[in-house]
Amino acid sequence: MAGESVIGDGLLQRVGAEDASSDAERGESAWIEVIHKMDQVYADLVHYQVELEEKNSALEEAQHFIENVQTSMTDVLIVCDINGDIKQANRALQQLTGCAAEELVGRPFSALFESDSRQLVAQFAEKIRSETVYDCEVNLLGSDGAPTPLAMNCNSLFDHEGKLVGMVLIGRPVGELRRAYEALHRTHNELQQAQRQLVHSEKMASLGRLVAGVAHELNNPISFVFGNMHALKGYGERIKRYLEALHGGDDPAACATLREELRIDRILGDIGSLIDGTLEGAERVSNIVQDLRRFSGNQQQQQQVFELCPLVRTAVDWVIKAARDKPRVELRLDESLSVEGNNGSTHQILVNLLQNAVDVLEDRDDPRLCVCCRREAERVLVEVSDNGPGIPQSDLLRVFDPFFTTKEVGKGTGLGLYISYGLATDQGGDLQAVNLPAGGARFVLSMKAA
Ligand SMILES: Nc1ncnc2c1ncn2[C@@H]1O[C@H](COP(=O)(O)OP(=O)(O)O)[C@@H](O)[C@H]1O
Ligand SMILES: [Mg+2]
Repeated sequence: MAGESVIGDGLLQRVGAEDASSDAERGESAWIEVIHKMDQVYADLVHYQVELEEKNSALEEAQHFIENVQTSMTDVLIVCDINGDIKQANRALQQLTGCAAEELVGRPFSALFESDSRQLVAQFAEKIRSETVYDCEVNLLGSDGAPTPLAMNCNSLFDHEGKLVGMVLIGRPVGELRRAYEALHRTHNELQQAQRQLVHSEKMASLGRLVAGVAHELNNPISFVFGNMHALKGYGERIKRYLEALHGGDDPAACATLREELRIDRILGDIGSLIDGTLEGAERVSNIVQDLRRFSGNQQQQQQVFELCPLVRTAVDWVIKAARDKPRVELRLDESLSVEGNNGSTHQILVNLLQNAVDVLEDRDDPRLCVCCRREAERVLVEVSDNGPGIPQSDLLRVFDPFFTTKEVGKGTGLGLYISYGLATDQGGDLQAVNLPAGGARFVLSMKAA
């Protein structure tokens, strides 16, 4: 500012000294013009300087802002040149590696990683030419020498002319997240395992109760297999005696008498049906064992198509035969009901429902149980109804809660309905409880019709 006034004053003084001729006047006005122009140029200069200063301070502010953002980033930021040498690194990286910014700048960025990740990061420079690298898992060498897992993204860095000059790497430490995820995964697996064990032990508990019924079921065919075998043994001995007489050279009349005596002809007529009956008994035993195996096996939940009615009959037979007080049972089954689900699970659900009904009917007058299976549109419904006390309104939903039981300790686990509900929904079905207007409860298992 001081310079301006000195120059300006000096020129005006000189102009003021020549005022005689017109030439001098023209010269004077030219000078004045020059002086004005210079004043204007000077004012512009001052203006530009102010503007420049303003821009500079805005630039400084922006740079400061960017630095602050980089510093407060928890993600790691690395900027490299085209050779992979670090040009800039934020505080998160300095903290994780334990190196100051000056130590990092100029180093090849791949040296920051564990040897198992180096090959991967070495490919970044080539990869970013065609795509952005997303969520690549790499291990950074931590300050304590331990690897720090990072989910890393890598992008190209261009200059103002659009020329590729380097790459920008952003890494998110995933150690905590990964540890939390692994812990969650482990707990989830343990929970699933515990749940499977729960289902199995509940199944074993109800199987224990069924044993008497199953033993009864087995007893019948086994006893007639025994009976038949006993008879066959006697028949065998008589046939042997007759054959010995025949081949021993006895005369034909004596042989005929013996044949009559030993009732060989009756034996020959009988033997076929005895063998058939025995085979049938053995088959029945084998079927029961198969049912038992199906029920007790810790099978996976495979969906299959099967006939529901034989399954219902077996479940009813077993439960009723094992019951101390046997209720009157009414079975209302449609001829053929094909369903889609898991037959072992369905059997387990039915046994649970029937055992519950038998339990509430104990010591009641005229205990009655009705199992009705029918098709309704795309569903098959199995209703297990009893004329017991019913379920208090407030417990209608609670009965499906785990460990909800009104039975005395040692008698009920409170898991039967909880597990049955899970098994029903797992196979695309449903299980609901209602009270009957005439008294008693009804459980409705709904399944997919095949
Ligand atoms: N048919 C039924 N009538 C009345 N209450 C029932 C019936 N079935 C189940 N409940 C009630 O639901 C409870 C839970 O049944 P469940 O889950 O099978 O466990 P648990 O049989 O071990 O008690 C029973 O304790 C009983 O109070
Ligand atoms: Mg039960």
